Amino acid sequence: MGETGTATGGAGAPALEAIGVRKLFGGLVVLDGVDMRLEAGRVHQLIGPNGSGKTTLINVVSGALRADGGSVRLGGEEITGMPMLEVSRRGLARTFQIPQSFAMLTARENVLVAAGENRGESYRRAPLRRLWTGDEARAMRMAAGALSASGLAGGAATRSDSLSGGQRKLLELAKARVGGARVILMDEPIAGVNPTLAHRIFEDIRAMASAGGATFLIIEHRLDISLGYADRVFAMDRGRIVAEGTAGEVMADRRVEEAYLGR
Ligand SMILES: Nc1ncnc2c1ncn2[C@@H]1O[C@H](COP(=O)(O)OP(=O)(O)OP(=O)(O)O)[C@@H](O)[C@H]1O
Ligand SMILES: [Mg+2]
Repeated sequence: MGETGTATGGAGAPALEAIGVRKLFGGLVVLDGVDMRLEAGRVHQLIGPNGSGKTTLINVVSGALRADGGSVRLGGEEITGMPMLEVSRRGLARTFQIPQSFAMLTARENVLVAAGENRGESYRRAPLRRLWTGDEARAMRMAAGALSASGLAGGAATRSDSLSGGQRKLLELAKARVGGARVILMDEPIAGVNPTLAHRIFEDIRAMASAGGATFLIIEHRLDISLGYADRVFAMDRGRIVAEGTAGEVMADRRVEEAYLGR
């Protein structure tokens, strides 16, 4: 459905691009000209000390917050200033630092809602088998597949507020999976998750990138577990990208060390 003949589009365009993105809260400059290019089918990690602007960057890129300057392009297409729902319909999904599922709905229902939201449909009737239409049956199969791929098949009928912290993170991934998103932004997907489950989550992410061609940008502080899964790492300090490269290159960079030591 892409428009042809746009000046910025094209097959060679990065999956997602931020150019000189700025964000101010009151007088505080939180994003101070962020430049970032994400390559399709790759796993990118964003690191940086607390308060350096990582979550704000995801909020601005996904349309949850309005940029005060700069531009954001998804697959070469300008999305700066677009509302979050519009951005998500164009194939960008995000997960939250604190998981955002509907507490009273089961894991399966949460996945169905995520699948429906993405296409502007409602699957409220889907759990009632005798009312299924072809679409709903398809949605149910997709939900079951996503839950099982994320290791949550056994918890499908569990209310999301009864899931463990780690399972709630897996549910976030299952929700991103059903939406058919091409670019997925994740805010601390393994915070508070045990190491076994944390590796499982990152293996899922790698598989979605390698086999499915999805592009990831992942904010994660737990470098011991996460860095081995990243193709490319960006380090942020005080609203700017201060280093970029392989995990080895970025961790060896003096500016990264300085950022974490607080200078
Ligand atoms: N809605 C807001 N209003 C005012 N200031 C905000 C708001 N959101 C974030 N900030 C400030 O912006 C700065 C960056 O916050 P942000 O949450 O983006 O950091 P972060 O890198 O995600 O940190 P952490 O690693 O702790 O999650 C902080 O100084 C924070 O206090
Ligand atoms: Mg944050």
